[in-house]
Amino acid sequence: MTSHLVTGIGELVTFDPTHPGPLGLLTDAALVVQDGRIAWTGPTGSAPACDARTDVAGAAVLPGFVDPHTHLVFDGDRSAEFEARASGARYTGGGIAVTVAATRAADDETLRANLHRLAAEARAQGTTTLEIKSGYGLDVVTEQRLLRLAAEVTSEVTFLGAHVVPQGVDRAAYLDLVTGPMLTACAPLARWADVFCEPASPVAFDEDESRAVLLAAARAGLGLRVHGNQLGFGPGARLAVELGAASVDHCTYLSDADVAALADAAPHGGPVATLLPGVELSTRSPFPDARRLLDAGVEVALATDCNPGTCFSTSMPLMIALAVSAMRMTVAEAVRAATLGAAHALRRDDVGHLRIGARADLCVLDAPSHRHLAYRPGVPLARTLEIAGGVGE
Ligand code: NIG
Ligand code: FE
Repeated sequence: MTSHLVTGIGELVTFDPTHPGPLGLLTDAALVVQDGRIAWTGPTGSAPACDARTDVAGAAVLPGFVDPHTHLVFDGDRSAEFEARASGARYTGGGIAVTVAATRAADDETLRANLHRLAAEARAQGTTTLEIKSGYGLDVVTEQRLLRLAAEVTSEVTFLGAHVVPQGVDRAAYLDLVTGPMLTACAPLARWADVFCEPASPVAFDEDESRAVLLAAARAGLGLRVHGNQLGFGPGARLAVELGAASVDHCTYLSDADVAALADAAPHGGPVATLLPGVELSTRSPFPDARRLLDAGVEVALATDCNPGTCFSTSMPLMIALAVSAMRMTVAEAVRAATLGAAHALRRDDVGHLRIGARADLCVLDAPSHRHLAYRPGVPLARTLEIAGGVGE
């Protein structure tokens, strides 16, 4: 049983309520890792003796980022679509078909190389937990391939057969497939199911279709997530509340009734509102009003949504910087949303914080304070702190 002491932590974000402030912040701190878990946090002066030691020379240490919404298994390039948006084209979800064609045509080795490269890119920027969705296969065999590949990198695997109705397929027939044989084939390979509930998109799903997808997924034993309210007002957030989803993601267009429904459900484990400001950045769209959700008492998470269409970024620090600059979140709220809030969006209590017993998933900054994540946008300050003997994903 090896214990590892980390010393010289200029500022330690723990979310431990026995430490000060909303971040459970300690300065001049140390922590002990034992068997891959946090065993002790406190002032450097009272740290216990350990078998091994790492000194971080005054750096800030945080829980590793939790990215609760990504689409990392795909092939193909959509930079031309991105460039067209710079000339005024609007995003409708139609480009998803381009990625579906490229992904179906790619062999497993190609998809695996893409996935592992992107996962390593996220990790290099301090992300230690990733959710990964399928959704660029949209036939039984390819959806299964994508889920199996995702499971090589994470246990947070999401079946997104209901991403869009694939080109050339009848809508009703596809719904039967995605709630029937495709679900049966894919449910054993996933923890979650998701649906692109967006009546404003011609290729996505409306309220009744989304409800059918989610109810079938719940019957198959999957936890629920919803892509909703991205392109216009719609039923996504209320459906997420009605069906007990863990999260509703995007939330760019929310009515007062949507916010009230999320707020009413919040004390009873209702959906976390997962905001994806990289999407608004990359699609030149208005940012979600995080302040309105937070002030109403809704738990907010941040995620990258990393995908080839609407946000090809794996950077949680960028999402924190955008949350503060463009979504009226405080730095503390943004850091919480990228760690603890995001863990709640995945219904995980072992990550996203550094209380005793948490996984020792650590992010270290090349900076003295968490504030620098927003203060120094675009600067590569964050990385994962590797401690020998971690518990692994
Ligand atoms: O989260 N909204 C739907 N799905 C992705 C975009 C996928 C794509 O355009 O390739 C999203 O934004
Ligand atoms: Fe997404």
